[in-house]
Amino acid sequence: MNDLTQNNLNYKKYVVDSKLRYFKSHASKIEKTFAEEISSTLGIDSKFITPKFFYDKKGSELFEKICTLPEYYPTRTEIGILKSLRTELPCYLDESFRLVELGSGASVKTRLILDMFTSLQNTTEYFPIDISEILTESSEILLNDYDNLRITGIIDTYEGGLEFLKNYSDKKNLILFLGSSFGNFSPIDGRKLLQTINSTMKPGDLFLIGLDLVKDIRILESAYDDSQGVTAQFNLNVLSRINDELDADFDLNNFSHHSVYNVEHQRIEMYLKSLLRQTVVVSKSNLSMNLEKNELIHTEYSHKYSLDQIRELLEGAGFVINHIWLDEKKYFSLTLVSKV
Ligand code: AVJ
Repeated sequence: MNDLTQNNLNYKKYVVDSKLRYFKSHASKIEKTFAEEISSTLGIDSKFITPKFFYDKKGSELFEKICTLPEYYPTRTEIGILKSLRTELPCYLDESFRLVELGSGASVKTRLILDMFTSLQNTTEYFPIDISEILTESSEILLNDYDNLRITGIIDTYEGGLEFLKNYSDKKNLILFLGSSFGNFSPIDGRKLLQTINSTMKPGDLFLIGLDLVKDIRILESAYDDSQGVTAQFNLNVLSRINDELDADFDLNNFSHHSVYNVEHQRIEMYLKSLLRQTVVVSKSNLSMNLEKNELIHTEYSHKYSLDQIRELLEGAGFVINHIWLDEKKYFSLTLVSKV
């Protein structure tokens, strides 16, 4: 038994082969179940469904489709910025860095960063942190394409996974948090997460975060209400998922996708609107709920930031800013920070 296993009794270790292993937190089992969460978020007056539930198989496919829509600028803009970093970012890296990603990717974005690592290093270590076991699938795909890659997946919350890595070894980390996924968090929760990230970092570690910027309201609103209706399908799909997994009887024809930009709070707000007065039963959540005509179920916030706010947010969490990169239109940002 090596140090690693001794130090991490909270995780079960699975060795798939010499290139892939993963650690699964025992703690994630004591998290609330889907049925319990839905029971407490739909069984109240201001109803909501947490956005993490969007991503079942169908929902993940729909999100992939959103990323290619003409109106949805974030993905392609962030990819453009990452491509332009091919010469600059490696200047901050060396042989001793490993790549850590919050959320697991087998996507173009992860690959662009892995390209930089693998051209700099003989062997590259990649640590995706994801609450879902999906990371085992995306890891297999990456290992097929990169010969000198070693993957250690951590199946846990972001906070848990980062804490695990803190005690893992002395190698330096570049932590990635891309796609403006951070924008889903409320300002309070977001600040807490940044502080946790900061507290688990060692001097010399780096953190690269992708954040969407405030811009013309028409561009923002059409990005979340596209002409092909894919975002609407994505939003409504969470109700199908609840139907399938929790024995509910949502009639999707009785709901519509509703998305607005809230100027004051600088965020897209997504809702499912009840088109009539109706009663819906969610059997496995032990719930029978009445919805008024036009009542809204909140499903997502997507916060947008100004450059000043990004600096304030990151510096407020104890980071020093190394560089902020933008695209030409100033639609999206990638910020590289380190610990004070
Ligand atoms: C994955 C949270 C970054 O907020 O833009 C896209 C999700 N929702 N269209 C975003 C989303 C509707 C996306 N994030």
